[in-house]
Amino acid sequence: MPYQVIGVWLDLPNITFALQFKLKIVFFTYKRKECFYLVGVIATFQGATVMGKGSGYGKVILFGEHFVVHGGPGIVSAIDSTTDAEVKKALKGINVKDERKTAKGYSEEKRLQQIESIERMLKAMGIDPKTGLDIWVGGTLPGFSGLGASAASSVAIARAIAQELSMQISDEKINQIAYEAEKAYAGNPSGIDNTAATYGGLMWFKKDMAGGPDKIEKLHLRRPIEMVIGSTGKVANTKVMVEGVAERKKKNPAKYDPIFKQAENVAYAGRKALENYDLKKIGELMNENHRLLQEIGVSSKELDMLVDLAQKQGAFGAKLTGGGGGGCMVALTPGKELQGKVLSAIKGLGFEVLSTKIGVEKY
Ligand code: MEV
Repeated sequence: MPYQVIGVWLDLPNITFALQFKLKIVFFTYKRKECFYLVGVIATFQGATVMGKGSGYGKVILFGEHFVVHGGPGIVSAIDSTTDAEVKKALKGINVKDERKTAKGYSEEKRLQQIESIERMLKAMGIDPKTGLDIWVGGTLPGFSGLGASAASSVAIARAIAQELSMQISDEKINQIAYEAEKAYAGNPSGIDNTAATYGGLMWFKKDMAGGPDKIEKLHLRRPIEMVIGSTGKVANTKVMVEGVAERKKKNPAKYDPIFKQAENVAYAGRKALENYDLKKIGELMNENHRLLQEIGVSSKELDMLVDLAQKQGAFGAKLTGGGGGGCMVALTPGKELQGKVLSAIKGLGFEVLSTKIGVEKY
C-alpha cells in the first residue's frame, strides 16, 4: 500500500519559555517507493509538568541536644523517613501546600516560621525574593516535634528549588542553606539537624563556635540497632526551648556549667560505646543524658512518662530527642522482639509511634 501514515513521538521535557512546557511533536509521513515524504506535523504543549524534586532525612539525637548549641559534642542518626518536596515556578507568590502527617496543631504553630524559613532560604540561594514558586511538601516523616522535620523540609525544599531553577548546588551548600532556614525555627540552631537531614547516616557533630566549619564525622556500627520513637503529641517551639536553656545557663552558671561538662563526658562515652557496640552501655548513657536534660529544664511530664514506660518494658535506654518540652522520646530496643514490645506498650496508651534503626549505611 503506497499511502502510509506514521506517528513519530518526540518528548522534549526541558524546553524553557516563560514557564516550563513539555513539547510533543507528531510527524505524519507518506511512503512511496521506499521513501517517506513528510505530509504533516502536530505539536502539543503540556504546561508546567516538569518540576524540581528533593528530599531530606528525619533524625533522632542519641546524645547532646541543647548542649550542642553551646559547642558541646552530639551524636545524631538519620532515620528511614524523609520529607519530600516538589517545586514548580509560578507566576507569583510563594504558595506552600503542606501535606505531611503532623501532630495536632503542628502546621498552624510552624506556619509563620515556615514562611520565614523559605524567605531565608531564597536569600541564601541568591534567588530574587519575588520569584513565584508553588511548593508541595510531603513524605513519610511525620511533623512531630523532635524528629528534625523542619530541617528535613528545608533540605527537601532547597534541593527541589535548585533542581527547578537548574542550579547545581553541592550537599555542603545545601547544608549551609538549610542552616540559614533553620534559624527561623530554632533561633540559634547548632546545625546538627540540617546536617543529619542533608547527609543521613550516624554522625558525631560539634559546632564550631568561631563560625568555621563544624566538625562532622560519620560513625559506623557493627550492625544496625532497632529503636522506637514515641510522640507525646505535643507540639513544641524549638526556638523557645533553645532560648530558655541559654537564659537559665547565663543566670546560673554554677548549676549549669557542671551539667554541660557531664553532658560532654556522656557524649564521648556514648561514641566509645557505639564504636564498641556495647548496647548496655549505650542505653545507660542515654538514660543519663535524659536525666541531664531534665536538669536543664527541657523535659516534660509526658516525655518522662514515655521514657519510664520504655525502660520498664525492657528498653536498654531511653531519652527525649530534639528540643523537648513535648515532641518525641527515643528508646534503644535491640532486636525485633523487644522493639515490638516497647512499641505496643506505647501505642497501647494511645501515643503515636515509629520504629526505625540506627547504623543503617544506606540512610
Ligand atoms: C533540636 O533537634 C536540637 C537542639 O539542640 C537545637 C539545635 O541543636 O539546633 C535543641
